[in-house]
Amino acid sequence: MYKNLVVLDHPLVKTYLTKIRDRKTSYSEFRQYVDKLSTLLAYESAKELSLRKKTINTPLAKYTGSELRQEVVLMPILRAGLGLMNGFNHIFPEARVSHLGVYRNEETLKPVKYYFKFPRLKSYKDVIVYILDPMLATGGSMRHAIEEVEKHGIKKIVVATLVTAPEGLKEIFKFHKNVKIFTCSLDKKLNDKGYIVPGLGDAGDRLFGTH
Ligand code: PRP
Ligand code: URA
Repeated sequence: MYKNLVVLDHPLVKTYLTKIRDRKTSYSEFRQYVDKLSTLLAYESAKELSLRKKTINTPLAKYTGSELRQEVVLMPILRAGLGLMNGFNHIFPEARVSHLGVYRNEETLKPVKYYFKFPRLKSYKDVIVYILDPMLATGGSMRHAIEEVEKHGIKKIVVATLVTAPEGLKEIFKFHKNVKIFTCSLDKKLNDKGYIVPGLGDAGDRLFGTH
């Protein structure tokens, strides 16, 4: 379909996703299963990292192995992106974290930015940014995030989401062909209020118990 789209095909992803879609799932369980899914997403999307050689001494001999070439920056989109942080932090313990605060205006569905902090790095050349948000609906919030990252001259951007709408995918790949997207599900469509169907409802509210 799209060469830069990966839809995870794993039995645990499918069962955990069913759990969080279920309207009967409590916010406490919802958080736990989002957390598990974030680990699986992080593990799978870590395939985007590139390596360079590293020579060390074992207790017995010299050994040439590998180390990561890139500096990893995790960028959760507030609020719901915070739900994916534990799993990514577990897989990338040395990552820096950039927070981006964006919410959707409920009428226009356009993103409204209220916070952004990006790490100051020596060089922005060998950097990979993982943008984390469970929902990619119209794609407006994600496009905004990608464009903030690109302002720093960063070329390698990976998007990690749980549920994606075809409309949002089309929007991202229309403007950002080189971004790689990892998702747990490509759903059917958006409804007339911009919610993903079948989806899981409002991810932030379900994660934090604010519905
Ligand atoms: C949700 C979600 C995404 C955005 C997706 O956030 O977490 O950031 O909507 O929609 P889009 O693709 O149409 O932009 P929301 O605006 O509800 O904010 P919240 O996480 O603070 O609840
Ligand atoms: N944001 C959500 O939290 N859920 C959707 O279905 C769409 C946008």
